[in-house]
Amino acid sequence: MEFNLMNLIMKRRSIRKYKDEKIPGEVIQKILNAGLIAPTSKNKKPVEFIVVEDKDTLLKLKRCKTHGAEPLEKAPCAIVVIADSEKSDVWVEDASIAASYMQLVAEDLGMGSVWIQMRKRFNDNGDAEKELRRVLNIPEKYGVLCIIALGYKNENRNPYSENDIDMNKVHFGVF
Ligand SMILES: Cc1cc2nc3c(=O)[nH]c(=O)nc-3n(C[C@H](O)[C@H](O)[C@H](O)COP(=O)(O)O)c2cc1C
Repeated sequence: MEFNLMNLIMKRRSIRKYKDEKIPGEVIQKILNAGLIAPTSKNKKPVEFIVVEDKDTLLKLKRCKTHGAEPLEKAPCAIVVIADSEKSDVWVEDASIAASYMQLVAEDLGMGSVWIQMRKRFNDNGDAEKELRRVLNIPEKYGVLCIIALGYKNENRNPYSENDIDMNKVHFGVF
């Protein structure tokens, strides 16, 4: 199929199972480039990333949140998405765009990824964000958004089709 962006968007699905295979540095770099070039409000560029490949640390990241962080257990790589909340009052939006861009480039490079939410999520002892901040030594002024778990796909998921596009969500003119 000829490359076009819409095909890529339809093909991207959350992938939560990965092969036990290291991701080459140049592939990770391309994914980071997408996050680093993503647009930010007032061009403030508050978004930063922490790349984690160490197995023990990945396990610690998984334990930061009780539900929905299981993919981190087997992922060969995770990119933690944080942003300097003193640089931008809309860092959540900036960081979300960066994370989405990285997921699309990961798909384009044949990798699987999933967004693991950390902001406003919990573990049995409290805040997932707070625990993540402690594990990775992230300064207090940085907001923690999510972790993108990455790896070579070890599950097949169907791409979206036109049937999944719900035009009932679209209002023309007024609501
Ligand atoms: C803001 C946000 C938070 C998410 N949090 C998690 C999460 O913590 N764990 C997880 O496994 N998937 C998480 N996901 C992935 C969604 O479950 C997934 O995108 C959704 O079910 C649609 O499936 P798709 O990505 O295959 O299109 C999150 C996605 C978004 C956008």
